[in-house]
Amino acid sequence: MPFKILKKQELVPTIHLMEINAPRIAKKAQPGQFVILRINENGERIPLTIADFDRKKGTITTIFMVVGKTTMQLSALKAGDNISDFIGPLGNPAHIENEGTVLLVGGGVGVAPIFPQARAFREAGNKVISIIGARSANLLLWEDRMREVSDELYITTDDGTKGHHGFVTDIVKKIIESGEKVSRIVAIGPPVMMRSVAGVTRPFNVKTIVSLNSIMVDGTGMCGACRVLVGNETKFACVDGPEFDAHLVDFTLLMNRLAMYQPEEKVSLEKYKCGREGCTC
Ligand SMILES: Cc1cc2nc3c(=O)[nH]c(=O)nc-3n(C[C@H](O)[C@H](O)[C@H](O)COP(=O)(O)OP(=O)(O)OC[C@H]3O[C@@H](n4cnc5c(N)ncnc54)[C@H](O)[C@@H]3O)c2cc1C
Ligand code: FES
Repeated sequence: MPFKILKKQELVPTIHLMEINAPRIAKKAQPGQFVILRINENGERIPLTIADFDRKKGTITTIFMVVGKTTMQLSALKAGDNISDFIGPLGNPAHIENEGTVLLVGGGVGVAPIFPQARAFREAGNKVISIIGARSANLLLWEDRMREVSDELYITTDDGTKGHHGFVTDIVKKIIESGEKVSRIVAIGPPVMMRSVAGVTRPFNVKTIVSLNSIMVDGTGMCGACRVLVGNETKFACVDGPEFDAHLVDFTLLMNRLAMYQPEEKVSLEKYKCGREGCTC
């Protein structure tokens, strides 16, 4: 059964929102979980985090950044189009309970998966402090939605065009050093950002959770593609995660494995672009 796109919108350059009609997934979805989709029967399977869900409407919202062939194909679809496969919810839900104060850190497109967690931590009675970052002000995602679900919201941009001029880690360090009793930090974003957050919080021994975006194929623990090393143990991000203790993650292995197919991905993207109408290369 195909899955209809109900809404499609470019939120900021290269980052798109897509709302899909998927009532059975919406019924069960929890913050922290993801879906795997395929545009058509010849398409690649790609995982995307559930950025929002509406059980009444029966919809799932994903937010994706265009980085290669499949995300570029996806960005060309419109409301009313269908995609052939949309499987989920996959992975373990985020651990959410009333702990006191939680610090949520989203970098780039990672702000989208942080949003449902911020909302759920707030609904569970926590004080929610959020930090969202982007390279530049025009790439900042969902500031308004994050403000709605946060007791305090900090913004950082690498180029200083909005909020603090610098990285999310600067604010993480400042908050911890201020003496604020933070029971848990959840950081989602590029691996290099998550590794930096882990580096900042390790000396303070503050529980830090990251969501690992390793390459996935089946998403059900069968293929081993998403293998990661956590505390020197091999884990499968799709079924054991995607969330793990940041202080135990081998980020170097994660980043090396993410880059494993780059030459093939480049060729695939070039071929796709050349096949498109109007291509002059
Ligand atoms: C659990 C999980 C949740 C994710 N959530 C989001 C999200 O909410 N928004 C978002 O923009 N991105 C998310 N990603 C990353 C997203 O899946 C990749 O950007 C996408 O697969 C790239 O496909 P492509 O064909 O456009 O690019 P390609 O050119 O094929 O690849 C570009 C890069 O994306 C990564 N990648 C490629 N194929 C996969 C794959 N099958 N699985 C995982 N990573 C891959 C690799 O690092 C690769 O170098 C998530 C990944 C995981 C594992
Ligand atoms: S994606 Fe195949 S085992 Fe995790």
